[in-house]
Order: sequence, then structure tokens, then C-alpha cells
Amino acid sequence: MTGSVLDLIATEHPAFVHVPLGLVIALPFAMAISFKAKHPHPWKLASFFLAGLAFMGSVVALISGLFWGRQISLIPPGGYFPIVASEKQVLQKMLQLHEVAAVVGVVLGLLCLIMLWRTLKQDEDAHHAAPTLRRRLADRGVGIAPLFFSLLWLASWGFCGKLGGIMVFGNEETNKAAAAADQAKRNDVEADLPIRALDYASLEPGQATPTRSKAHGNHWARIWVTASGIDDYKAGKPLPAGAYAVLSTVEDSRGKPGQEPGPLYMRETLADGRVSFAFYWPRVPESSRTQTGGEDFAYWRSPSEKLKACAVCHTTAGPAAKQ
Ligand code: HEC
Repeated sequence: MTGSVLDLIATEHPAFVHVPLGLVIALPFAMAISFKAKHPHPWKLASFFLAGLAFMGSVVALISGLFWGRQISLIPPGGYFPIVASEKQVLQKMLQLHEVAAVVGVVLGLLCLIMLWRTLKQDEDAHHAAPTLRRRLADRGVGIAPLFFSLLWLASWGFCGKLGGIMVFGNEETNKAAAAADQAKRNDVEADLPIRALDYASLEPGQATPTRSKAHGNHWARIWVTASGIDDYKAGKPLPAGAYAVLSTVEDSRGKPGQEPGPLYMRETLADGRVSFAFYWPRVPESSRTQTGGEDFAYWRSPSEKLKACAVCHTTAGPAAKQ
């Protein structure tokens, strides 16, 4: 039960925040009227009432925002602020500002509420004072200070709400960043799997039988090259731009190629002439995990630090130096 109520106030955060915000918009108007009204006291009372409701609403808004942030994993469990790990995390950066503005607003609201309460108290004291003093005190309205604080309260929440709106609906910047990330992911079909290397059997075989390759983990290896590069490969020349070679491997079994597949190696000449490497080992046997830093799965791509060793032998787009 409590879980579902909490869930509700959490997910309804974007709707609920309008309640205290609306009250804080109304507050300076009630306060301003208290300066001019024939009977200022009821307006002071109304201002106190509005500020009190707004303050209580704001506490609920803070809590609901916190739970919502945790629910959608923007705020770490048990934490209060999102962690900004990189400059690209526009949403997290915005949420930090949003939270600061919200808390500043609540503190200003509390000060405003205390000041209003003191004005009411003064009114009560003035009730027992001489009639002239009573009029003077009553004529002051709620006072300039609480009015000023109510406007600051509204300003910080206005800013907070603007950021909230951007986080929920997006603006040009966040939408562009999201679209760019989406497009980059879609353009990079090999983000999760080396599709072309896995399809090595569609390439031209570089040699007929597997040979044991000391340079590549001592697995049995066969080389496959794109049609666009096979002639150059056979002539010992660098692969042309766009061409790539795959070295498929199987594990050794008593001095012969075994049945267990080993890692895939790929080397590609990019359009700008640079060389790019990839290494894919979907199931690393326990005994070989020292080679993958203890991982049971490895998919590394240039410019990964882990492929630095490849460039030691493959210094040019041409054949690697025999070691
Ligand atoms: C110790 C030197 C050495 C290292 C390190 C090395 N290679 Fe190689 N590589 C070679 C040699 C030599 C060949 C030629 C075939 C053979 O002898 O196995 C080759 C062939 C290849 C081929 C197929 C043919 C070609 O010329 O492209 C690929 C693909 C390849 N290596 C990728 C890699 C990747 C990826 C890495 C790093 C994970 C790597 N190699 C690390 C020496 C090395």
C-alpha cells in the first residue's frame, strides 16, 4: 500500500509541482493587496495561509521529485543528487541545478512564512495598543521584506520549473543531443557485435588450411580478406582503403586444430588510411582469462587501449613483421 502511494507521488511529480507553484504565484498578489486594502488583516492572514500551503506542498514536491529521480535511475539509490560522469550528461547536469533551485526556493519560502507569522503576531499585539499606533502598524501591510522574499521564492521556483519542463519535454539542446546519440548508435551497427568479422566466411580465404599463429595467442588461424583487398594481400601490399582482413581461430587440440572456436581478429584500412583493429572472443575459456583481464567475454575495438599490442606488429597497413 505505502509502496503504491509512494510510486504515485513519485511518478506524478511533474503534475503535482504545479500546486505549490500556483500558490507561490498567487502569494505576492495577496501580499501586495494587503498594503492597499481597507482592512489589511484578512489579506495578511490569506498571505500566511497561501504561504503555509505552498510550503507544505513544496515539501511533498521535494520528496516526490527525489523518489521519482531514484525510480528512473537518474539519482543513485540512497543518494540525493545525480552523478555527472561526463560533460555529455546534459540531463544529469540539469537535474542538479533543478534540485538546487528547488531547495533554495523551499528555504526562501520558510523565511517568508516566518516573517508573515511575525506580522500577524504584531497585529495581535497592536490590537491591545493605542488606536493611533494600531492604525500605523496595520497600514504597513505584510511588510516589504516578506514581499521581497516571496518574489525570490517565485523566481527560484520559476527557474526550477523551467528546467523541470526541459527535462520532461526536452528543449533544442537536449533533443539534439538525444538525436545525435541515437543516430551515432544506429550508424554504428558494430557497437555490440563485430558483424563483418563474424561474417568472415563470406570473404576470400587467404590460405587453404589453418596454421598455428604464435602472434595470436597460439591458436590455429585462418585469414580471410575482402575481395577488394585479396590481390594486394597476396602480393604482400598494404590493404586498400575500405578493405579488411579477419583472422579466425580455433583452439589447439593435441597439436591439431580443435573444435573449440577461439577469438576473432580484424584489421581494417579506414578511408583515411589509418589502421583499425578489433578483437572478439565471445566465450573465453577459464584457463585463458588472464589474456582478457579475467573477463569471460571480450569485444575490443580501436582506439581501445587493450589493442595497443596489435599495433606493435601491425605498424603499417601492410603485412605484419614476422616475429
Ligand atoms: C607479435 C606480433 C603480432 C601481434 C601482437 C598481432 N599480430 Fe596480427 N598478425 C601478425 C602476423 C605476423 C600476421 C600474419 C599471419 C600470421 O603469421 O599469423 C598477422 C595477421 C593478422 C591478421 C590477418 C592478416 C592481416 O595482415 O591483416 C589480422 C586480421 C590480425 N593479424 C589482427 C591482429 C589483431 C587485431 C591484433 C591485436 C589483438 C594482432 N593482430 C596482434 C603479427 C601480430
